[in-house]
Amino acid sequence: MERKIPTLVLFLWIFSGTVAADYVRPQPRKTLDFPSERKASSYPQQVHISLAGDRHMRISWVTDGKSSPSYVEYGTSPGRYDTIAQGESTSYSYILYSSGKIHHTVIGPLESNTAYFYRCGGEGPEFQLKTPPAELPVTFAVAGDLGQTGWTKSTLDHIDQCKYDVHLLPGDLSYADYIQHRWDTFGELVQPLASARPWMVTEGNHEQERIPLIKDGFQSYNARWKMPFEESGSSSNLYYSFEVAGIHIIMLGSYTGYDEYSEQYNWLKADLSKVDRGKTPWLIVLFHAPWYNSNYAHQGEGDGMMEAMEPLLYAAGVDLVFAGHVHAYERSKRVYSGKPDPCGVVHITIGDGGNREGLAHRYKDPPPEWSVFREASFGHGELKVVNSSHAFWSWHRNDDDEPLRSDQLWITSLTSSGCLTEKRHSLRKILMAP
Ligand SMILES: [Fe+2]
Repeated sequence: MERKIPTLVLFLWIFSGTVAADYVRPQPRKTLDFPSERKASSYPQQVHISLAGDRHMRISWVTDGKSSPSYVEYGTSPGRYDTIAQGESTSYSYILYSSGKIHHTVIGPLESNTAYFYRCGGEGPEFQLKTPPAELPVTFAVAGDLGQTGWTKSTLDHIDQCKYDVHLLPGDLSYADYIQHRWDTFGELVQPLASARPWMVTEGNHEQERIPLIKDGFQSYNARWKMPFEESGSSSNLYYSFEVAGIHIIMLGSYTGYDEYSEQYNWLKADLSKVDRGKTPWLIVLFHAPWYNSNYAHQGEGDGMMEAMEPLLYAAGVDLVFAGHVHAYERSKRVYSGKPDPCGVVHITIGDGGNREGLAHRYKDPPPEWSVFREASFGHGELKVVNSSHAFWSWHRNDDDEPLRSDQLWITSLTSSGCLTEKRHSLRKILMAP
């Protein structure tokens, strides 16, 4: 007996030490409850903002009343609105559901790095936004596959603690999945953040609420989350581009045509031909289904798009790609055509904002040569682009509801690495091809 107790204690000590060293993966959390509140028919709900061309911002909101006006009053002092902008509105029906009136109003020209106070349709509370800076540094918050669960709330709380200028979302917003009022509750959930900083989103598979012969996909998404596609020469809300300080950002669509004969491909070529790396030394791309993914979840789903578009992105000298879809985090080396390449793209999968489907735990073993870091956790990322040559990336997992930075990296831009000189010729060749 005397010999057994120390053995048992030793076993328990080793066992507990092993468990403490390993990160315990959190379980999915339930979808949040949203108690319904009676509001005046013109009361602005689901307020969110997005960049809308040079020095302009689009204010979007929903009212229950169909006769509510679409104007926004704004100014740089609280309660004093010296400018008013008139907007547009839309609405849609989906089987038995009828949306409220969805308003989109563009305000500007606005001063950079400035707080503005605004009110929607002459009703309700005053909101406050801050415009991004005109020059670097600039900080982005990044989180995909958000949904509306307890983990989503945790992620949003952590993003709120970070000083960021623009939120980037690589698809799968509300997880409404055909149940339309969930788009409304998602709009309410994100309003505190999305009414204060621009949210730039692209679509995921959960936005595609298609019913064969009855409904086209993306009706709710396009009506509610209008992005600056017209401002960037695109004919579709499913792909567009915008610029912030010294960065050109391209939002692509994984669920619309992407082969070399598609409208998206041709728009991408035209957009890339306009990029001036002297003005925007950084080039970043977002889409939903990852091209570099060593998780078993959604394995190979991005392959078709990758085959069509990777040579173009490589030739253009894209610095960074953010993708979602896989509910886990993964970061690659600079990579091209499946192999590490010093002039390739850093791919980051960050489809783990907090959705109800839970985490994707199973990874291929051993990891591919290009994979540097992978972790199945909910969380968000922060990208601080410091100057034309350096950016700091960090991944913050929701560890016991605290943001714990578990991956970080200084990224050097391709502009400053000499890679672009040799790429210029191959890009011109692709862009000139009929
Ligand atoms: Fe997805």
